[in-house]
Amino acid sequence: EKGGFDHFMLKEIYEQPSVIKDTYRGRLLANKGIIKLGGLEDYIEKFTNADRIIIVACGTSWHAGLVAEYIFEDLARIPVEVEYASEFRYRNPIITEKDVVIAISQSGETADTLAAIKLAKEKGAFVYGICNVVGSTISRETHSGTYTHAGPEIGVASTKAFTTQITVLTMIALKLAKVKGTISHSDYMLHLRELETIPAKVEEALQSDAHIKVIAEEFKNARNFLYLGRGYNFPVALEGALKLKEISYIHAEGYPAAEMKHGPIALIDEEMPVVVIAVNSNHYEKVVSNIQEIKSRAGRIIAVVTEGDTLVKEMADYIMEVPHTPESLTPLVTTIPLQLLSYHIAVMLNRNVDQPRNLAKSVTVE
Ligand code: F6R
Repeated sequence: EKGGFDHFMLKEIYEQPSVIKDTYRGRLLANKGIIKLGGLEDYIEKFTNADRIIIVACGTSWHAGLVAEYIFEDLARIPVEVEYASEFRYRNPIITEKDVVIAISQSGETADTLAAIKLAKEKGAFVYGICNVVGSTISRETHSGTYTHAGPEIGVASTKAFTTQITVLTMIALKLAKVKGTISHSDYMLHLRELETIPAKVEEALQSDAHIKVIAEEFKNARNFLYLGRGYNFPVALEGALKLKEISYIHAEGYPAAEMKHGPIALIDEEMPVVVIAVNSNHYEKVVSNIQEIKSRAGRIIAVVTEGDTLVKEMADYIMEVPHTPESLTPLVTTIPLQLLSYHIAVMLNRNVDQPRNLAKSVTVE
């Protein structure tokens, strides 16, 4: 049932091209310029009239929510707040009928996310769910929603759920941007066409697997890792660090690259690998200067770069290439090498990759 793979996690990483396609199939009609999400059609005004969107989730799903914050604000110009469900529910939060709450959950059973939904509903907010497990509690407790079509995710570490969640959130943002008129027609069409090419680009990113294994071998004995990214790729840095922690038990921290000089830079030495997401984007030059700062402190750099990059390639100790894509879609490709890096390090350290110690696939207690 692992389809020839050694672990469910690896199988699920490799399924991403096809499940991303499953997630947009019938919903994204790029040639016709149409996005059609069944659960959204009747509620578009709830979103366009909302004062703000509050996203509630935990763990990896919370990271998908952070990516969505960038997409929604950038494309649809709707203010977004992203909350850990556990913090939100106990904070006596200010929620009104003018708020839309999006709950993201692979399992649809996470206790804190469920409690946050109930609270939001009591306060009169409209609650939209993005779940993977069909018929799950959260999918039933929300007013409406969209399923990711990732198929069963068995590995405890979430991989394909994350990229399909981002796929759904991107479609919602593009749909709202189009309705609100906050995106030009040509930019909208470009994004639709580009989203359709993501499965092929993920496939291409997976081809670096053998090279990533070499990098894993080199760094598997490090005690600490730092992951840095900016903008859309800041949440990807957090997710990369979480994946490494969960399955390899190596301490890792994700940071917005610019925050490095406000503290974490003190940690950098030759013992501390730094994974930097340095793809072509608005932030490229700034990330390059962050890399220089790390190099001058003898830090070792593993950089995720856009194919054909030469500048970062010269500075980094190792690079992991991903195909070029518009900045707002980069998390869908930059995530891939980081999943593989964690996977290979964990396997080399003989960890129980699919069932890491102390972790459960769905956290139904708070
Ligand atoms: C990370 C991981 C957890 C879950 C979190 C939320 O790999 O598996 O952090 O993402 O427990 O779970 P769901 O999405 O089921 O609500």
